[in-house]
Amino acid sequence: MKEKLLALKEELASSIKGCVSIEEVESIRINALGKKGEITAVLKGMKDLSDEERPLIGKIANEVREELEELISAKKGELKNAEKLVKLSAETLDVTMPSKQIRIGRRHPITQVFDELKYIFTGMGFKVAEGPEIETVHNNFDALNAPKNHPSRDMSDTFYFDENMLLRTQTSPVQVRTMQVMKPPIRIISPGRCFRSDTPDATHSPMFHQLEGLVVDKNVTMAELKGTLQAFAELFFGPGTKIKFRPHNFPFTEPSAEVDVTCFKCGGKGCSMCKGEGWIEILGAGMVHPNVLRNCGIDPEEYSGFAFGMGVDRATMLKYEIDDIRLLFENDMRFLNQF
Ligand code: PHE
Repeated sequence: MKEKLLALKEELASSIKGCVSIEEVESIRINALGKKGEITAVLKGMKDLSDEERPLIGKIANEVREELEELISAKKGELKNAEKLVKLSAETLDVTMPSKQIRIGRRHPITQVFDELKYIFTGMGFKVAEGPEIETVHNNFDALNAPKNHPSRDMSDTFYFDENMLLRTQTSPVQVRTMQVMKPPIRIISPGRCFRSDTPDATHSPMFHQLEGLVVDKNVTMAELKGTLQAFAELFFGPGTKIKFRPHNFPFTEPSAEVDVTCFKCGGKGCSMCKGEGWIEILGAGMVHPNVLRNCGIDPEEYSGFAFGMGVDRATMLKYEIDDIRLLFENDMRFLNQF
């Protein structure tokens, strides 16, 4: 029996050594040491042994089992390690490999111009104020001194929700909102989106952008309005740009003016850009009407102010020589990638 046990041990030990997977080792373990295993069977035969032989064989059998168990767990450990190494080497991270190209977007030309305008005006001490695109008729027209029969109030010019609410047709209602909550000195710009029920063509879009400016303080004069816009024009369109005020009418300013700049392309000589005029219209402006100040709780005897409103789409088109406003809103990447 001793020989049988030792022979079995040798045989099992060599097949354990030859195993290449944990599953193989496990099946050898079950076949040898399991309930119905070969070693177990030998041990079961011990009851037929003599009283002298039994403890001897029992001792050997236990040793054989222990040895085999040790071999099995060592082999399992070895195989597990090998498996881990294979896995690790398969998962090696090559940090020198070129990364995936991330496509970085860019700011829309209108956003770029807004950012530049904010930079220019905050540099002159203006703060940025924002207002909602859905406005009251009161803020968009009434408080701005627009007579009840003003053509801009017409249904064909303005998108109304009902008789009290509309999509703002200009950024000027932010003047009202600002003056209602701020005491002078006030010095704000307000960039934003406006809406008018225009049929889209090369120069019109029912959605467009404006930049409003408002200054209210003691002794604010038209000279300051001119100085501010002159400084802006040179910073935005280039040194040497001149501005020209043409008399105009807005309900919320008095006096009012439309402001032109010398064509930055021909310098005023006249070209296709300025249609031979030498001048390009870029904004509306004027001295804040006393009625507007009063409507907003500011005493026109004590304070005066100026305001201006610029078409930002137009400024963008001029700056980048874009000949159709619709290009700005089609979001064609081939167009947008040029800026
Ligand atoms: N809100 C005017 C417009 O949309 C522009 C403007 C603003 C004029 C402020 C004067 C003062 O045409």
